[in-house]
Amino acid sequence: MKSAVTLATGSLLASVAHAQVVQWDIQKRDLAPKKGLRRRAASTYTEVITNEEARGGYFATVSVGTPAQNLTLQLDTGSSDIWVPSSQSSVCEKSASRGGSSSSSSSDGCTFGSFNPDKSSSYTVVGQGDFSIAYVDGSHSKGDYFTDVFEIGGAKLSNMTMGLGEDTDIPYGLVGVGYAINEAIVGTEQSLSAAYDNLPVLMQNEGLIATNAYSLWLNDLDASTGSILFGGIDTEKYEGDLSRLDIIKDEQTNSFSSFIVYLTSVTANSSSGSDTLSSREFPIPVVLDSGTTLSYLPTDIAAQVWTEVGAIYSSEVDSAIVPCSMASSKGQFTFGFGGDNGPKISVGMDELVLSLVTSGSNPTFRSGQYAGKEACQFGIQNFSSDPFLLGDTFLRSAYVVYDLVNNQIGIAKTDFNSTTSNVVAFASDGAQMPSATAVANQVTATGSAGTFATPTYGAMKGFTEANAAVSVPVFQWAQLGVMGATTLFMLIGSGFFLL
Ligand SMILES: *[C@@H]1O[C@H](CO)[C@@H](O)[C@H](O)[C@H]1NC(C)=O
Ligand SMILES: *[C@@H]1O[C@H](CO)[C@@H](O)[C@H](O)[C@H]1NC(C)=O
Ligand SMILES: *[C@@H]1O[C@H](CO)[C@@H](O)[C@H](O)[C@H]1NC(C)=O
Ligand SMILES: *[C@@H]1O[C@H](CO)[C@@H](O)[C@H](O)[C@H]1NC(C)=O
Ligand SMILES: *[C@@H]1O[C@H](CO)[C@@H](O)[C@H](O)[C@H]1NC(C)=O
Repeated sequence: MKSAVTLATGSLLASVAHAQVVQWDIQKRDLAPKKGLRRRAASTYTEVITNEEARGGYFATVSVGTPAQNLTLQLDTGSSDIWVPSSQSSVCEKSASRGGSSSSSSSDGCTFGSFNPDKSSSYTVVGQGDFSIAYVDGSHSKGDYFTDVFEIGGAKLSNMTMGLGEDTDIPYGLVGVGYAINEAIVGTEQSLSAAYDNLPVLMQNEGLIATNAYSLWLNDLDASTGSILFGGIDTEKYEGDLSRLDIIKDEQTNSFSSFIVYLTSVTANSSSGSDTLSSREFPIPVVLDSGTTLSYLPTDIAAQVWTEVGAIYSSEVDSAIVPCSMASSKGQFTFGFGGDNGPKISVGMDELVLSLVTSGSNPTFRSGQYAGKEACQFGIQNFSSDPFLLGDTFLRSAYVVYDLVNNQIGIAKTDFNSTTSNVVAFASDGAQMPSATAVANQVTATGSAGTFATPTYGAMKGFTEANAAVSVPVFQWAQLGVMGATTLFMLIGSGFFLL
């Protein structure tokens, strides 16, 4: 989910699908304080995050209030508030089972948990009616700002400011860990001074972590958990070296408000060849947004990606789709950042083909060269204006460090399914990211616009040979019917952040 001060940028709101209750572990790792530091001990906190494929997001278990009430919230680098659904909201009171089995508890509709303020002795309202987030598709969350005890990954904050979703249609809350300037209240009040200390800021102020920085390891699409590590990096969760990129300021506010970096190259590579894809929009500003399920690139380059893999843009579902069998294609796309010297992250097709349904079988193509095959959602979609978004379909292949003090992103190729750990804490407030090398001569401004050239599609054969049909027409989007389009609409459920 993406939030911004004055920008209206795109985001996919995870759809309201069938919930499952899952248990999460919480791990805590305390490091011995480094010698010679004048300040408080630098620790790190690890929270296991669970990949909820059905909801299209990563969820962490936290607790709120006194006594503690457990809730599972979506982790979001694209927004900056924590908000919890109120157990008195109609979405939580609604019975989850249609037709309503009577003896259900009052929070049946919110299977990930809801918060009952009446049952917390430490609950204090600090901004009546001040919390408000709305989405173009009509979903929203509104209510009071309050303070209460908040616990995540073993880190306990006694006075955390949060939003209470009293009027909401989203049956679970969020943990937004972005810049404080991107809090909903800053947009509502149109004033930077309305910003409060959000989670990572407060963790630093309370001395739980040395600096406002954290690392995100989403892990494989097929793996059930990843982790967020506050205050440090884990050198065992990536391959090669971490490259340090400067975050790009938001143009309209001239401030660091979201995690924007410049995407400067995309190549397609398979057994049959390699293609350098082009875009008039290079260098492309992209937001690294864990709260967005798919990735969104300019239409000119997205169309080349689709041609490589034989994806079909279906206007019926407003989305690029592929046969599910493409998940076994051996081709990959490599994303380069910050210019020629910058990091390159490869994303395999197994990370780019997502089921369209939460249970049961996917819809099938009704006609055309894929007739009878199961249809899946493709992980790279198109979008018409910047900033563009690299969501979970990209982020799973990368280990990403977010340093909100130096305004830098550390990025390296992920180590999927790593079972070892070597946590290194940031040494002090504003310390440089450990074990990371700055990208030399990096692209930090939109210079001359990119040029467009149709690639020769030498990699296409290698991408699509997994499928019987290889003759996908270039730049001709066949009008293919998809069965169950209504279901697709519901599941894709995209929306844009308003303010
Ligand atoms: C909340 O979760 C913790 C840790 O899993 C558990 O010990 C505790 O009993 C739970 N509390 C409630 C009210 O369910
Ligand atoms: C808790 O936080 C609120 C909002 O930032 C502040 O007004 C209040 O003074 C704080 N309370 C304590 C006990 O620190
Ligand atoms: C990671 O683990 C998952 C679940 O066990 C498995 O399906 C997947 O293939 C593994 N990925 C890699 C790259 O080993
Ligand atoms: C391209 O893919 C082939 C296998 O399909 C691999 O051996 C080669 O290293 C890849 N090249 C790049 C630049 O990723
Ligand atoms: C995405 O591409 C399709 C096919 O070219 C086009 O019809 C659609 O308008 C594009 N969507 C956006 C948001 O640009």
